[in-house]
Amino acid sequence: METKQTPDTLSIRPPILYFGTPVVLITTRNEDGTANITPMSSAWALADRVVIGLTGGGQGLANLLREGECVLNLASESMHKAVERLAPTSGSNPVPTWKCKAGYRHEADKFSLGGLHARPSLKVAAPRIAECPLQLEARMTHHVLRPLEAWRDDAGGFAIIELEVLHVHAHADIVVPGTQHIDPVHYAPLFYLFRHYVGRGTAFGKTFKAQV
Ligand SMILES: Cc1cc2nc3c(=O)[nH]c(=O)nc-3n(C[C@H](O)[C@H](O)[C@H](O)COP(=O)(O)O)c2cc1C
Repeated sequence: METKQTPDTLSIRPPILYFGTPVVLITTRNEDGTANITPMSSAWALADRVVIGLTGGGQGLANLLREGECVLNLASESMHKAVERLAPTSGSNPVPTWKCKAGYRHEADKFSLGGLHARPSLKVAAPRIAECPLQLEARMTHHVLRPLEAWRDDAGGFAIIELEVLHVHAHADIVVPGTQHIDPVHYAPLFYLFRHYVGRGTAFGKTFKAQV
């Protein structure tokens, strides 16, 4: 009898499980009214909700928990250098000890550092990032802090946050003309794959539910 050949597997314990999700630049408002940018990628969407995961000790998380709103700015492939300029920084001051040891430094003006431009939002106080092809204004609906003890000290911990998207801004050149649809031919998101930046790659076609 013929058996199908499939690859052998190894049992491994990878240090991270970043299996490839889009890079999101979260903009939030600091207590003094200035804006912060948090690069992140632990995010997924369903209907009008986006669920994100943020490590404790970050400025973006503190801002989001205090103000309950943010903008999720989706980075494009062409923004990978700007994202990496922001990568070793935090809006937190002081930067938590465990992050300092990992090579992070404080940065108050991430828009200038990344060469990015702020645009006012319609429904939230935090600004949008003009360079990002998709900008989702959102408000927090639920959050879970875990593990709570680790969250309270320098060791990290993390938060899982559910956001309701209130308003979507899209660059005109990624919208199918005359429709409400994003054009996957022109939209080229940046992905974070096991701590490497990758692009969209080859298009293989669409699902039976695609409308355009
Ligand atoms: C591409 C990329 C993806 C990241 N993904 C996440 C993530 O999903 N969750 C998270 O907590 N931190 C993530 N980080 C790390 C944060 O950006 C980092 O903790 C940063 O200092 C947070 O900035 P803030 O303290 O100003 O909010 C990511 C960083 C990069 C460059």
